[in-house]
Amino acid sequence: MRSEQRTAPVRPSEDGEAVTVTAVAHPNIALVKYWGKSDERLFLPRTDSLSMTLDVFPTTTRVRLAPGAEHDTLTFNGAPATGEARRRIAGFLDLVRERAALGHRAVVDTENTVPTGAGLASSASGFAALAVAAAAAYGLASDATALSRLARRGSGSASRSIFGAFAVWHAGVRGGTDEQADLSSYAEPVHAAERFDPALVIAVVDAGPKALSSREAMRRTVDTSPLYEPWARSSRADLADMRAALGRGDLDAVGEVAERNALGMHATMLAARPAVRYMSPASLSVLDAVLQLRREGTAAYVTMDAGPNVKVLCRRADAERVAAAVRGAAPGRAVHIAGPGPGARLLDGDAR
Ligand code: PMV
Repeated sequence: MRSEQRTAPVRPSEDGEAVTVTAVAHPNIALVKYWGKSDERLFLPRTDSLSMTLDVFPTTTRVRLAPGAEHDTLTFNGAPATGEARRRIAGFLDLVRERAALGHRAVVDTENTVPTGAGLASSASGFAALAVAAAAAYGLASDATALSRLARRGSGSASRSIFGAFAVWHAGVRGGTDEQADLSSYAEPVHAAERFDPALVIAVVDAGPKALSSREAMRRTVDTSPLYEPWARSSRADLADMRAALGRGDLDAVGEVAERNALGMHATMLAARPAVRYMSPASLSVLDAVLQLRREGTAAYVTMDAGPNVKVLCRRADAERVAAAVRGAAPGRAVHIAGPGPGARLLDGDAR
């Protein structure tokens, strides 16, 4: 499943006939985090990162070419996309049009099931689905590596959602031309032992939009946090340890590395000037509950992204018990159980 990529190329119609393509993608949660860019325009990260694509919260995106239209028409869960979301999607479509040398505007409808902006990587599934659908609609290269690079230009973490299960995103090389740099940064599947059977218990402690975008927060952290460089250095060792732990199917080692890498990332933010703090009291209650689970002998480890929500890695067989402990620590909050999910793909059945 993990490296599967079904994206039959669809030729764009040059005579103005409408082409409609639909793609679906799932969010991913990084076990070794991406935090900090080396190039904001090209979305090049400072460090490699590694993630698990989930089997929950898919984004479905339909792209229809609109020959003759003057503007893109963009909807998000049925309502017109506005503000920053609109700007990012339209900017991404401009990049696709430039590459395809095809100027048609598009009608893009996005159905997102992720609580947007809450540190649950809605931009990862969103731009992975958009990259797959737009590449097919405009006739761009549809191999998984090319799609991963393209998705990266919408949101860095989207490069990883092109793949199912576990994926590593290479930071790539700097110093050459823009094209060389762009080509060098993409995700690819990572091997995990067959017997590795993890779950992520997701505590949505706050589903509202986050106070500070990850883009802003990363920039501030890189520019001002004295802890950033030490974390980035230690992240290299974390990646090597993570790959080895996945290969062995060692859940405790995977969890230990994921937890230290994520809490270290949050430490870099707390040391930024001014501090960036995504953890809330409810997040800390969940962290406490996870420590308690470990004391009682259940393998459970936390990771957190650019928001207050907490994801708890555990064995699938323990997921219900872990979810119950998390519910107890964050009463009234939604708790979801996810497993490794599929890569981004085109859906069949679109009319042309
Ligand atoms: O979703 P992005 O591309 O703006 O980056 C978010 C980065 C984290 O979710 C915090 C970490 C990661 O590697 O996904």
